[in-house]
Amino acid sequence: MELGGKPLLEAVDICRSYQLNGSVHQVLEGIRFTVRQGELTCVTGRSGCGKTTLLKILAGLTSPSSGRVLLEGSPVSGPGPDRCVVFQEYALFPWLTVEENIAFGLKIRRVEKASAKEAVERYLALMGLSRFKDYLPREISGGMKQRVALARVLILNPKILLMDEPFGALDAQTREDMQSLLLELWEELHHTILFVTHDANEALLLADRILIMGINPGRIVKEIRVDLPRPRAKEEREFLLMGQKLRAALRS
Ligand SMILES: Nc1ncnc2c1ncn2[C@@H]1O[C@H](COP(=O)(O)OP(=O)(O)OP(=O)(O)O)[C@@H](O)[C@H]1O
Ligand SMILES: [Mg+2]
Repeated sequence: MELGGKPLLEAVDICRSYQLNGSVHQVLEGIRFTVRQGELTCVTGRSGCGKTTLLKILAGLTSPSSGRVLLEGSPVSGPGPDRCVVFQEYALFPWLTVEENIAFGLKIRRVEKASAKEAVERYLALMGLSRFKDYLPREISGGMKQRVALARVLILNPKILLMDEPFGALDAQTREDMQSLLLELWEELHHTILFVTHDANEALLLADRILIMGINPGRIVKEIRVDLPRPRAKEEREFLLMGQKLRAALRS
């Protein structure tokens, strides 16, 4: 049985190589998968296997050497508002307040003032940031910055949210809080998410399915469906068994 709704994002035989000191380094080879509407897919693999390169290609920030990315069946050739990216670095505007950072994309899109204000208030509340709306990024914690970064893209209602190790810089407790928040938002707002992580437990906590990448060249070596009910607990037997399976696949 297929998960989720209709196909949303398709990677079709994506290859990418880089020229380094006169020799060709094949980073990605023959990447092919489909993300369906509403799915939460995790991509995992060792450092250097090409996860970030793949995400940048899907976002349209880097072009593939060959192969195509299709969004709802149409080829994408550059970045677009339908594919928002959240990176590990928060990339907030330091001179704008929390509220202004969240409102930024709506302003660019010339969304009418009253409805923009309403949307910003809703996302401030969803993220638990209402009290901090007038703070500058340097005045809030890392977890709060990442919540602002998430609100800033979710408010634009992208067709797919591409996330590259977004919680990688956070301490363990804040990271768990962010994972729970992301799941709550995902269940409430029904976004489609492609989430890159090298943390097996994070992938198992979040994903409907996990794509495991091998290295040199980067390719998809295995796909694991995670049909454990949510919220998932790391101590549960099924979770531990899937963790063993995932870690074995990552080692092979
Ligand atoms: N612009 C570039 N020029 C040359 N080589 C590059 C470039 N970008 C990435 N690479 C190479 O591509 C490979 C994959 O890099 P990438 O950053 O995609 O890996 P990753 O899986 O995201 O790693 P990590 O888990 O450490 O973030 C690396 O060997 C890297 O050196
Ligand atoms: Mg990376």
